[in-house]
Amino acid sequence: MMSQGLVTMSYIGASILFILSLSGLSNQETARRGNYYGMAGMAIAIFATIFSSIMNDYSTLSYEFLIGALVIGGFIGTRAALKVEMTQMPELVAAMHSLVGLAAMLVGYISFMDESASFTDAEKTIHEVEIYLGILIGAVTFSGSLIAFGKLCEKISGKPLLLPARHYLNLILLIAAFYLGYLFLNGETADERLLALGLMTVVALLFGIHMVMAIGGADMPVVVSMLNSYSGWAAAATGFMLSNDLLIITGALVGSSGAILSYIMCRAMNRHFLSVIAGGFGSAGGEAAAIEGDVQPIDVIETVQLLREAKNIMIIPGYGMAVAQAQHTVNEMTRFLISKGKKVRFGIHPVAGRMPGHMNVLLAEAKVPYDIVFEMDEINDDFENVDVSIVIGANDIVNPSALDDPNSPIAGMPVLECWKGQTTIVMKRSMASGYAGVGNPLFVLENTRMLFGDANVTLQAVLKELQN
Ligand code: TAP
Repeated sequence: MMSQGLVTMSYIGASILFILSLSGLSNQETARRGNYYGMAGMAIAIFATIFSSIMNDYSTLSYEFLIGALVIGGFIGTRAALKVEMTQMPELVAAMHSLVGLAAMLVGYISFMDESASFTDAEKTIHEVEIYLGILIGAVTFSGSLIAFGKLCEKISGKPLLLPARHYLNLILLIAAFYLGYLFLNGETADERLLALGLMTVVALLFGIHMVMAIGGADMPVVVSMLNSYSGWAAAATGFMLSNDLLIITGALVGSSGAILSYIMCRAMNRHFLSVIAGGFGSAGGEAAAIEGDVQPIDVIETVQLLREAKNIMIIPGYGMAVAQAQHTVNEMTRFLISKGKKVRFGIHPVAGRMPGHMNVLLAEAKVPYDIVFEMDEINDDFENVDVSIVIGANDIVNPSALDDPNSPIAGMPVLECWKGQTTIVMKRSMASGYAGVGNPLFVLENTRMLFGDANVTLQAVLKELQN
């Protein structure tokens, strides 16, 4: 058993490691180190909690039980992480968030039923408010994350579900949550209070489902980061219920960093946070304009010709690069082009792919030099000087209708304005739309060429031809 002093020291050490982890993750060059800090912090946290006096507080807990749970949880987590494809990462993250929500709910119910807790007066009320909020946030996180999981793996349609009077429905659910809170705090018998808690759980689960169902495909990035934030607050609430300072700190760190990320995502997509949460953004207007015109296909030989003549090349990766796992071929091609004296840069849209930083992770994995990878804001004014833009499996993030069609579901979202360059080559397999489900007028512009096929297969052919 560790002394209380040692446990406190370990918790402080773990908190510092978590903060270092977050700061490491903010930059590609330090992200790996950030992960190591996080892993070390979590190992210390688990070790210190197991060997703290918690074992005395809960007489029914035994080490056999704890180790059994650790082995089963560790096995499932390791297997999921090893098996998951890079393209399924966002779904995995959403599934993990749902587990944090579920844990907060369960801890809430157990804290409520725990008869050994002997709080009185104000302390009792505070503890009950903690339980109520913990279950409320946990239930919203749980059901919301499950729906986000379904939407991200496309088992549930990305189209927003727009129930009539949906804002009133949300308002009614909110009022019901307050009223049930009042009943819970003032209930006379344990059964009455449990009933209020149970009804509130149903209300919170419905609210989570309705909130995420009402959000359109293109706004999903905000939802992903928002649920990330909620899972942090759910963990912090659990920390309050268990009087575990480290869990409160960790939850608050995840909650606030997720909230900052949601703000950054909203800014990147030119959305107001509240309008996204209210749902149905961009879908209340008329029909998005149909795309008219003919596409101009191009083959590998012609592509190589254009690349040989170009001096200034911009590569724009999107979700299709992740699907095709083309990042390594992209890296090889980039290095070859640079060795021939070409200026090659990457333009990264903040919501490219299916999770924040998706493209940066893929490019870092393939060892693309960081100093040629630019954020959208850094290079969007420079397309006039670009000879060839290569769009690799991207669609919504280069859709000009976001800027000029107010009825488009992505209206108002800033996009990479590649059409301002001399020539744009779009690599994709068909004319299918992207995640937001809208047509893309870029494909029929006069200076756009479509190079159809799987991005990796086509790029390998381009690289081979370039090297000949
Ligand atoms: P998308 O608009 O989804 O377009 C991806 C394109 O890749 C598709 O049109 C598809 O066309 C093509 N593709 C798929 N597999 C391919 C392959 N093997 N080879 C070549 N092309 C392939 O992606 P984007 O431009 O990156 O935009 C991201 C979208 O996802 C935005 O709407 C964003 O709001 C949303 N979203 C983002 C996030 C985050 S946090 N980043 C989270 C959730 C949703 P074909 O089928 O014709 O090949």
